[in-house]
Amino acid sequence: MTSIPYGKQHITEEDVKAVITALHSDFLTQGPKIEEFEQKFASYIGSNYAVAVSNGTAALHLCALALNVNEKSRVITTPITFAASANCIKYCGGTIDFVDIDPKTALIDIKKVKQLLQSAPKGTFDGIVPVDFGGYAVNLEELRKLADEYGLWIIEDACHAPGGYFTDSKGVKQNCGNGQFAELSIFSFHPVKHIACGEGGMITTNSKELYEKLLLLRTHGITKKPELMHENHGGWYYEMQTLGYNYRLPDINAALGISQLERAHTGLNRRRAIAKRYDEAFKKENILSIIPSEGDGHAYHLYIIRVKDRKSMYDELRKYNIFAQVHYIPVHTLPYYQNLGFKKGAYPESEHYYEECLSLPMYPSLTDEEQSFVIEKVIQIANA
Ligand SMILES: Cc1ncc(COP(=O)(O)O)c(C=O)c1O
Repeated sequence: MTSIPYGKQHITEEDVKAVITALHSDFLTQGPKIEEFEQKFASYIGSNYAVAVSNGTAALHLCALALNVNEKSRVITTPITFAASANCIKYCGGTIDFVDIDPKTALIDIKKVKQLLQSAPKGTFDGIVPVDFGGYAVNLEELRKLADEYGLWIIEDACHAPGGYFTDSKGVKQNCGNGQFAELSIFSFHPVKHIACGEGGMITTNSKELYEKLLLLRTHGITKKPELMHENHGGWYYEMQTLGYNYRLPDINAALGISQLERAHTGLNRRRAIAKRYDEAFKKENILSIIPSEGDGHAYHLYIIRVKDRKSMYDELRKYNIFAQVHYIPVHTLPYYQNLGFKKGAYPESEHYYEECLSLPMYPSLTDEEQSFVIEKVIQIANA
């Protein structure tokens, strides 16, 4: 059997054709494909605006800049995420406060967020970066209530969850990134994610003001829009109005993203079917525990099990060419964050979760035969 990774892209002939067409066009860097991708993505997610950028990390950085994060800012996030969710605040000189996870879901524990907010004078914290970890949506309705009470903004890190949703208190499905609760949401189009661009990212929002700011920040802080400029010397003229970056997405990558987006729904259904099959196979085995999910809105970027002897499960699976992965090493335990003064032991649920978690192969092109092999080996190793 060939090797089975934990995640991988799925490239079709249509995708290849879309990229070749872009290569033959007049635009390699930002051109007409960007607006098309943005509009189609916004309509998939249900947000008013979308801004395509070079990757998910750039998306987070631009969000922090657009919300004026600076040396005085204090921002809350979860230790169980990719480092970029916290790093974006550090890029802008801000301070990170971690809040431990709820072990049942591995998402930031909203009750503990509340405790932290209550423990300090109002105004201490500026914002929060919740993460729809693994594709399981944070209940942003609950978080929004807290955010409003304490004057916080929300950047939803939805890298794992395009197409995911939670059901709100009125029974309405709220898509990750739809802009109803968070000021800004971000996505990544890294190849292991739902939509692959090579490198790529997207920010969604319902705020016109933030949208305009993001467009400027994405491209050096430069505008050529006559209605925004203070002067206009002619067709060549532009103004740099703020300090921005080159975080543009090339048209080549956007062409791939558009083509992938057309099958996003099918891919999501396949992920959910794979998860259901794992669930059914593992539920009978009380040697493993699955991260449970309520409702059907899980986007299943990851399928995570918890096993007592995680290292031996990881190593043994590799002997069968099954490349499971660990998501994530708690961010506060990484050397950079340790050097900032974060202590091991500070977030016990996250650290305990890290000792046991393992992400099994989960991607739309995983065949039934490959999945059966993974299930068989996981059960065999767990019972050994
Ligand atoms: C939760 C989370 N946030 C942010 C990122 C950063 O995205 P990118 O790799 O596109 O920069 C990732 C991707 O790995 C991620 O998983």
